Amino acid sequence: MKDYSKYFQVPSMNEARKRTSDVVSIDYSIDPQFIGIGHSKHYWIQTYGCQANEADSEMIAGIFEQMGFSEAQGPEDSDIILLNTCAIRDNAEQRIWGELGRLSRLKQTNPDLVIGISGCMTQEEGVVDRLLKKNPYVDLIFGTHNIHKLPEYIYQSYFEKERVVEVFSMPGTIQENLPKKRKQNHKAWIHIMYGCDEFCTYCIVPYTRGKERSRQPEDVIKEVESLVAQGYKEVTLLGQNVNAYGNDLNRGYTFGNLLFDLDQTGIRRIRFTSPHPRDMDELTIRAFKECESVMEHLHLPVQSGSNAILKKMNRHYTAEHYLSIIKQMRDAVPDVAITTDIIVGFPNETEEDFQATLDMVEMVEYDGAFTFIYSKRDGTPAANWDDSISAEEKKDRFDRLIVATKKYSNKNNDKYEGQVVEVLVDGVSKTDDTMLSGYDRHNKLVNFKGDASMIGDIVYVQITQAKTWFLLGEQVHV
Ligand code: 5AD
Ligand code: SF4
Repeated sequence: MKDYSKYFQVPSMNEARKRTSDVVSIDYSIDPQFIGIGHSKHYWIQTYGCQANEADSEMIAGIFEQMGFSEAQGPEDSDIILLNTCAIRDNAEQRIWGELGRLSRLKQTNPDLVIGISGCMTQEEGVVDRLLKKNPYVDLIFGTHNIHKLPEYIYQSYFEKERVVEVFSMPGTIQENLPKKRKQNHKAWIHIMYGCDEFCTYCIVPYTRGKERSRQPEDVIKEVESLVAQGYKEVTLLGQNVNAYGNDLNRGYTFGNLLFDLDQTGIRRIRFTSPHPRDMDELTIRAFKECESVMEHLHLPVQSGSNAILKKMNRHYTAEHYLSIIKQMRDAVPDVAITTDIIVGFPNETEEDFQATLDMVEMVEYDGAFTFIYSKRDGTPAANWDDSISAEEKKDRFDRLIVATKKYSNKNNDKYEGQVVEVLVDGVSKTDDTMLSGYDRHNKLVNFKGDASMIGDIVYVQITQAKTWFLLGEQVHV
């Protein structure tokens, strides 16, 4: 039996809480012994959660391909299945446990099958404990900080048939030049930074993704230039708090500087997610106004409209400050679309606190909102707090919030009737193959008649009808 103890490392939430200073960037390169070893074998990745996970899965797929594996048609045809997981709320985790159980049955017909799990869930102590004790059919467990070690892990788990468990609590380096197998040829995710130092009291991300680390601006710019050369039209810049971009580099270079520099690369569209209201600065707002490529859509998570709750959430801003940013944005770009994230039922949220959130929705008139019922996450400060609000009360508030947000998303969509909008064509509509779908500059989903040869093009569409979740239109030539 081979010694695999060096791979056996489990996470510690206490370690994950620590913050150290230096982070270095390293150029990834694969050990040549692993190139091609997956020839004629297939991999299957299931991704859960946010865009950061989608982007990570593209790197994981890139590594598999570099090793010679090909993508399977589905889990049944696969030699290695990997679940890239999310830990943000309990319901996300429950789905993943269910899926793991289902997938384990595939081992009955394919005993060589390797089942792996990566991503935010594996960074939780409790999860790794449960996997080790109760889920022996999971062969490979690694975390968010060691994707670059995948070739060794695959070799060990698939070819040497050893269980591999390696989850680092703290990030080591930033890995540049990881191979990527992007899902689309016209729009791309780009991590500009990793981790989060905000420590909102409800949120597990600072523990699962570690300290805030920014990529060097030159590396980001080079990546976007290369995408432009390949014909990409849109990039979405990813970070847990993109406005903190650059703080850790001590170069006096900020997120606003990055937007202005990326605007010069020739990329047609820049989006980003998510900024933090406390750190929205004047240069970022100016970029919306002055950079043609920065799309007129701001996703600015508010979380709550109550100052008391915002304080308990450790958000470092007030409702008034948030509204002042919205005003500055609308003064700069009058037709900007604004969307948000809102949590209801935070521990001991009163009816009055909740009313303040409804007031916020009324005042901002959001184009859209992602709404969540607070979910207790072990290891976060809020998980230790008493909560006198019943589950029924939370659900009732949640339903009322949905009614309020829907009213304004409908109202905002109605404004587009008759307008001509610019659409980047994503693909054929899922429900009708004579229809194309894509997003306009304000991130509105637009459906219109057309053929698949237009996928990846930027076209103009006159909106004929606003629906609740999308806009319907006809292509026009301007
Ligand atoms: N419970 C509910 N929602 C949460 N979010 C983050 N943590 C939690 C939690 N524990 C929401 C926030 C964040 C979005 C990505 O997920 O609104 O902005
Ligand atoms: Fe979580 Fe707050 Fe960081 Fe967003 S900013 S990832 S909500 S801790």
